[in-house]
Amino acid sequence: MRVDAQLFPQGHAVGIAFCDRVIERKKLKVRFLNNEHTVLVAPRRYGKSSLIKQVLLDTKIPNTVIDLLPATNAFFVYRAIKTSVVSLLNELAPKTKPLRQKLLQFIQRFHPKLTLHLLGQQLEIATNQMPESSIIELLISLDTAANNLGKKVVICLDEFQQVGLLKNYHSIEAAIRHAAERSTRVTYVFSGSNRHLLSQMFHSKSRPLYHLCDLLRLDRIESTIYADILVSRVKKRWKSAVDKQVISEILSLTKCHAYYVNALCRSLWKETKKPTRLSVQKTWLDYIEMQKPWITDDLSRLSANQRNILAAIAYSEVSEPYSQEFTEKVKISASSIKKSLGVLLRDDHVYQDQTGFYRVLDPALETYLHAICHFDFLEYD
Ligand SMILES: Nc1ncnc2c1ncn2[C@@H]1O[C@H](COP(=O)(O)OP(=O)(O)OP(=O)(O)O)[C@@H](O)[C@H]1O
Ligand SMILES: [Mg+2]
Repeated sequence: MRVDAQLFPQGHAVGIAFCDRVIERKKLKVRFLNNEHTVLVAPRRYGKSSLIKQVLLDTKIPNTVIDLLPATNAFFVYRAIKTSVVSLLNELAPKTKPLRQKLLQFIQRFHPKLTLHLLGQQLEIATNQMPESSIIELLISLDTAANNLGKKVVICLDEFQQVGLLKNYHSIEAAIRHAAERSTRVTYVFSGSNRHLLSQMFHSKSRPLYHLCDLLRLDRIESTIYADILVSRVKKRWKSAVDKQVISEILSLTKCHAYYVNALCRSLWKETKKPTRLSVQKTWLDYIEMQKPWITDDLSRLSANQRNILAAIAYSEVSEPYSQEFTEKVKISASSIKKSLGVLLRDDHVYQDQTGFYRVLDPALETYLHAICHFDFLEYD
């Protein structure tokens, strides 16, 4: 793989590509080692999976990551958990046959079989109960096995909010709570990007997972920390120092959003010439041009009011969206703005920064809207 792709990956960032997150990395490590479950929430592509992956590498704890994005029913969740539990049991199991045989006593109820595979003796199990009961049994048995083998395990349930959208979400959540609160060796991380749904799952008193675990929020990497990292990467790549303004330009265009910092720097680092402010701007605009099909597709899913409000915020961040000045600017009533802005915030198109200003969350979308911003263009529906 090329160095720029390793240093600024499009996929998960770990090792040399992983920047900062010192506090979160330490926090999550302690939680893994102390068997404390966590809900990790952040908008799309903020770095949830990379952080989890890096901490799992740091701690070397046997683990599994279950992607629940495609989950459409309880059987999917059960099958995904079963596959992961079996693979973890195979990983935890001692290497010799008699000792592996001993492991079977902890999971007797699943009629376990040791079958000969290319990789040696592999464990297989069968359950014939309702998915919810099987989920409890599988997870509790994994904990018993880990306990008896003196090992820790981490289970990451990614895009966990999907469970809350299933028909029998209550019983699945109850099954997971039952297992998680009894576990002594298996630590759970529930991660996802839909703050609204995850908050309902973990903060609503009527839901089974209410207050099961602490919340860890992931924000963007701080610009001063990011700047230091990029300065030293430039020095290493071009063997000379870079003007600080060039780095500021990178971070200002990408708004310190790791996915976009990586996308922009991946292109810049391919060049033989050291980046300048102009080359940074040009590369960013070329990148936005390439993203146009996705951006316009995203925009076409919004209502005319939502698009207009988003475009106005992209043009200039807003602190008083219900003021006369803003309602006149977008030609929408305050009550309609409230409704549309609520949706834009819920779906992570807009966020409110620490100073209370409303901003567009995605920097590529922001640049695109800013560049073409004259409000009448958005009035199609
Ligand atoms: N700490 C980091 N240092 C450098 N790059 C990072 C870091 N965290 C994430 N990234 C980059 O940001 C992008 C998104 O990362 P990742 O897939 O981990 O985010 P995510 O929140 O899990 O995304 P999704 O919501 O799509 O699952 C990737 O390009 C990744 O390389
Ligand atoms: Mg992810």
